[in-house]
Amino acid sequence: MQVATFLHVDEAIQLAEKEKLAEQALSKHSVWLRGWVYRKRELKEKIFLVLRDVTGILQCVVLTDSEAWDNAQKLTIESSFEVKGKLKKDKRAPNGYELQVEQINIISIAEDFPIRKYQSTELLLDYRHLWLRSRKMTAILKIRHTVFQAIREFFISKGYYEFHAPIIVPRIAEEGPTLFEVKYFDKKAYLTQTWQLYAEAAIFALEKIFTIAPSFRAEKSRTPRHLTEYWHTEVEAAWLGLDEIMDVAEEMVKHVIARVLEKHKQELALLQRDTAELETALQKKWKRITYDEALKLLEQHGMKVKWGKDLRTLEIEKLTSLFDTPVFVTHFPKEIMAFYKPASKENPKVALCFDLLVRNVGELIGGSERDNDIEAMKKALKKAGENLDAYQFYFDTRRYGAVKHSGFGLGTERLIMWLCGLQHIRDAIAFPRTINRFYP
Ligand code: 4AD
Ligand code: MG
Repeated sequence: MQVATFLHVDEAIQLAEKEKLAEQALSKHSVWLRGWVYRKRELKEKIFLVLRDVTGILQCVVLTDSEAWDNAQKLTIESSFEVKGKLKKDKRAPNGYELQVEQINIISIAEDFPIRKYQSTELLLDYRHLWLRSRKMTAILKIRHTVFQAIREFFISKGYYEFHAPIIVPRIAEEGPTLFEVKYFDKKAYLTQTWQLYAEAAIFALEKIFTIAPSFRAEKSRTPRHLTEYWHTEVEAAWLGLDEIMDVAEEMVKHVIARVLEKHKQELALLQRDTAELETALQKKWKRITYDEALKLLEQHGMKVKWGKDLRTLEIEKLTSLFDTPVFVTHFPKEIMAFYKPASKENPKVALCFDLLVRNVGELIGGSERDNDIEAMKKALKKAGENLDAYQFYFDTRRYGAVKHSGFGLGTERLIMWLCGLQHIRDAIAFPRTINRFYP
């Protein structure tokens, strides 16, 4: 028996397109495809099977007099099968073609598939391992792949080195209350919240570095934008100041937007993402406003925030609605910022830091210049109730040739959420971890 070469749905359609078939005409040669049963409809004289593979779906039609009839009858939703047939141009078919089936080989008959058309969010999360096959999740996972690739591509093209920090760390914190504790033999260790303190040690060797790695936050709040395990894109660069690191952030996110728009028209359409917002973000320069200016703007729109308070979700939503691109907010009050964000020389009440805010998601990036003043950092850490012992290595980095440096962290799932227009961050990752779920 001759071994069949299998085509994917997109390849089969491309091939048929080359033939320039007349309406209802059959392609000259038969092709083999393989995949899973996405939909099935049985009539008296016809069975419609929709085949699904990584590239898309194709309607396959089996007629009663076909050799394939018996096998077609046996196939259930999500069964795997191989199918041979001729493509036929058909205006009514979802992608303009259907397959007139000649032969079907059954690979595996699926049991009654537990996911039906309308299902609760909880059930879809319980069956996440099966729900990954949905066209929605497949589209998101493809975009996610491109996002990771585009981030790497961007940094490598700019001469950044990919650098890896440990995941198991002593008690060093971005936010103490959200540290995950792990048993480390007879000691306590923690899951990392950021690579930053290690990255700051490494810039003395590599100068410009980046990573995409898991970060962990024991977030007790149930919000559509918090995971307990997320992929953190982080950057650290020697010699750069606040404005320059914001330039890097803007250019990087724009590069990712461009790649996603270029490669994923089909997936964005499937997700019903209106891409106008992304196109505008790509074309325009993003505004940079200070925290003080943000408070003024909010006040003009009926929201009074007391100076010194962090911006809350509602306020961030209002602010982002006032701009048609992502917006940088800089110079937050020093008091409420992490210990490593330095005070501005001109106004010590504010820190040299920024957040990048986007619609529907809120904070996409947090970044800053880094303090070189060991005593100021010790004071801030003590105030936050941190034990200084774990930070001694970090202070060392300032003792041997300190230089100005800056960096930022971006929640990669938040970026994917924004690009795909998702309502909830959990759909930006295959197996989400949230306060009440770590199964499957
Ligand atoms: O603002 P954060 O806490 O900043 C840092 O960790 C810095 N050390 C980063 C750095 O300068 N290298 O976190 C950075 C970003 C946030 O802007 C947000 O997008 C994302 O990480 N993030 C989360 N994403 C999903 N789920 C969570 N629980 C997140 N917490 C933060
Ligand atoms: Mg932050």
